[in-house]
Amino acid sequence: MISSTVDLVLKNAKIFTFRGIVTGGLAVEKGKIVKLSKEPELPRADETVDAKGFLLLPGLIDSHVHLRDMELSYKEDFYSGTCAAAAGGITTVIDMPNTVPRTSSLKALREKKQEARKKIVINLAFYAGFPSRLNEVEKMAKEGIVGFKIYPHDPLEEIDWNNEEQALSYLKAAEKNNLPVSIHPDDLETINKLQSELKQQKLSDIEVFLGSHPATTEKKAIVKFTEWGTKTGCHIHICHVSSVESLTAIKEEQNRGTKLTCETTPHHLLLTKEEIKKQSTFAKVLPPLRTRNDNTALWAALLEGIINTLASDHAPHSLSEKEKPFPEAPSGFPGLETLLPLMLMKVAHGDLRLEKLVELTSSSPAKIFKLKNKGMLLKGCDADMVLVDLKEKWKIDPEKFYSKSKFTPFNGWKVTGKAKMTFIKGSCVMSDEQIITHRGTGSIINIKL
Ligand code: DOR
Ligand code: ZN
Ligand code: ZN
Repeated sequence: MISSTVDLVLKNAKIFTFRGIVTGGLAVEKGKIVKLSKEPELPRADETVDAKGFLLLPGLIDSHVHLRDMELSYKEDFYSGTCAAAAGGITTVIDMPNTVPRTSSLKALREKKQEARKKIVINLAFYAGFPSRLNEVEKMAKEGIVGFKIYPHDPLEEIDWNNEEQALSYLKAAEKNNLPVSIHPDDLETINKLQSELKQQKLSDIEVFLGSHPATTEKKAIVKFTEWGTKTGCHIHICHVSSVESLTAIKEEQNRGTKLTCETTPHHLLLTKEEIKKQSTFAKVLPPLRTRNDNTALWAALLEGIINTLASDHAPHSLSEKEKPFPEAPSGFPGLETLLPLMLMKVAHGDLRLEKLVELTSSSPAKIFKLKNKGMLLKGCDADMVLVDLKEKWKIDPEKFYSKSKFTPFNGWKVTGKAKMTFIKGSCVMSDEQIITHRGTGSIINIKL
């Protein structure tokens, strides 16, 4: 039964449901959606928001985010990063484990959670790296992580990801605990080999960088881990797919019925390597930006359903790090505050259906990472929501970012569509570009298996 007065009513909205957009209202009680109604049959509420003219979407779930903090808090911390997410209409993020200290032990994971609890303003779930001791895998799974992340080119622990026997033992352990394993598809031996070859050829720094991370290595890593996934029954999720070659391999495996999902990013969909010539280190990212042909293939795969999720790969660094000479500058840039506007721009241009966007950024990540009651606007679900203005035209300005990283390769892009209000479990945390909540009001999601 709904009590006579609920916590929040949002009225006059256009509400996104997978059965279509309905004009009406929505009632929230104790953080859950308790009613979706076409007519003005809504209960009385402590707080009412008139959403006239705006569209209500499920809050975005960004399943690939480097929130940093701990010893890398100069790049980003749990507060600045989650404020950036809220400003970008993102209500849940999954944090990556390549931090200092590395999130590849029970101890490091617990310390990170403790720090996060004090600072976050949205929902936060964690990835972990595989621990050096195999018997710690189960303990980490019980700590509620969404899955394990592997960086074969830069392992978090001393695990040789070219040693099949060792790799299979870890993947088996993840499978036993019903957790997916996400892969950054690259290979250390190949990078080193190509780098030393290319450096002798008097090529530019950019050419050495691009040449040492070719699409062929990406594809090879995908094929290898997918094969090991099949051998162990482990669900493999490929991060930031960037090339035609990789997509062909993934499609083949998916057609064969392999349990294989994958993600891409706005920058791999929208930018090419030409951007590196123009923006130098500010467009340096791994995997590298590739060609227009790759962009086109990624869009096609996205619309066809080969790509399952869209994530920002928010990878903040300090300005002084990005201003280093090209070979030393770190890869990556922030993405939490550009993901939704860039994609709403594609919706406005008629290149992307709203349903597809919501699937890629809400319902599908919720399903893959077992985020219960998230990613949909349905009675009984958590009231994690974003109210968007589909028509607002504005210019991306990194000076306005909540992220500590005040740069983006999308600087100055003219976009259409903006997050106006973000709600976490029915409570408004961002309104008109302002964060209106306090640090520590967000919650940590622990996956129960
Ligand atoms: O460009 C990147 N930056 N790619 C990665 O895989 C890691 C990330 C980071 O952590 O900075
Ligand atoms: Zn990566
Ligand atoms: Zn990443």
